[in-house]
Amino acid sequence: MESAIPRHLSLPRTQPPRAEPGWQPPYPSFVARFKPSVTRVVMAYFGAQYRAGGETVPGAVRAARAELAAACAHADGPGRVDHATYVDESGYTTLLTIGYWTDPERYDRWFGGAHASWLGEQRRGSGAGFFVEAVRPSVSRFETLVSNDRREGVAVLADALSGEVAEHAYWGGARDRLPAAQTDPLLPGEPPTVVADAGRQRVRGQRNLCLIRSGQDWTDTDGDERRRYLDDIEPVLRAGLDFLRDDGPAVGCYANRYLRVVDTEGNPVDKSFGMSWWRSLADLDRWARDHPTHKAIFGEAMRYLSELGSAARLRLYHEVTVAAAEEQHFEYLGCHPATGMLRAL
Ligand code: HEM
Repeated sequence: MESAIPRHLSLPRTQPPRAEPGWQPPYPSFVARFKPSVTRVVMAYFGAQYRAGGETVPGAVRAARAELAAACAHADGPGRVDHATYVDESGYTTLLTIGYWTDPERYDRWFGGAHASWLGEQRRGSGAGFFVEAVRPSVSRFETLVSNDRREGVAVLADALSGEVAEHAYWGGARDRLPAAQTDPLLPGEPPTVVADAGRQRVRGQRNLCLIRSGQDWTDTDGDERRRYLDDIEPVLRAGLDFLRDDGPAVGCYANRYLRVVDTEGNPVDKSFGMSWWRSLADLDRWARDHPTHKAIFGEAMRYLSELGSAARLRLYHEVTVAAAEEQHFEYLGCHPATGMLRAL
């Protein structure tokens, strides 16, 4: 059993761990291991938003996404790209492209051009909204967890997966895996503020803002396992994520999206994820521990993973970031006022 915190980021704790001494998790899980030369990553969510109406993607959105795809193929482009879609509570479709980098300098070189294209003045008045929500956490400020050997999200850019780690399958595991939390309670700063001109808003970062991407992959499931996921677990997950979408602010969740992963042609695949922005890691922990929906799926998943062990074909992963204020960038052009972090204002 290994520690989720790699040796080169391990520090004498001034913050107590949440794990019981000698804790042995009932099923295996793994974390992404980056080589020590990786000191920071970038996770950038590029969204295009339009009023859902029929199946057609507006021309302005198609053109912007084609430019983004071309930019992503550039040498300084992201090392990993994911695509996903969802319809938000205001009835707008959002098409999302997520780019991951392990070299922030390459991102900075790349982003100038990509920004001029994705959020340039030419996008104004196109009838569609465009945004970028990006964080660039130091490696001390994010953690990953995967239930198997198939990597998703930022973990794809890691050099390897760890062996089985000890810090999981109990409340507080995410905090125990986060290197920065060894010495820092990661308390939230003042709520974010906005700088706006006509139609364009930039949200200033908030100290210790928290981002989670929590993913599910049922591609390989069949028979009873597939039925159990789709009929028993997914509806409860949806209810939990609907709660966060509609009532999240009451529990510290600024914004939540429940996204379906799509292929490069936009066809849905058997993968989904929740992504949400939180006032603090403590608020996220609390929701995961106390909300009946997550409590129920946590309990069900624990039973199921413990029962099936390595035969489980439902794959779960998550990445949790607690970003410093200067590690955040939020910019919205032509988006409705309840989009993403604009809801925090
Ligand atoms: C089908 C969907 C999901 C299942 C089956 C599931 C199940 C689980 C399980 C088994 C754990 C413990 C993992 C471990 O430490 O071994 C966990 C942790 C956690 N989950 Fe989920 N989860 C799901 C979706 C979500 C979503 C969508 C969110 C947030 C938006 C979320 C937030 C969390 C958090 C924050 C933790 C860590 C809790 C802590 O460290 O105290 N989960 N979940």
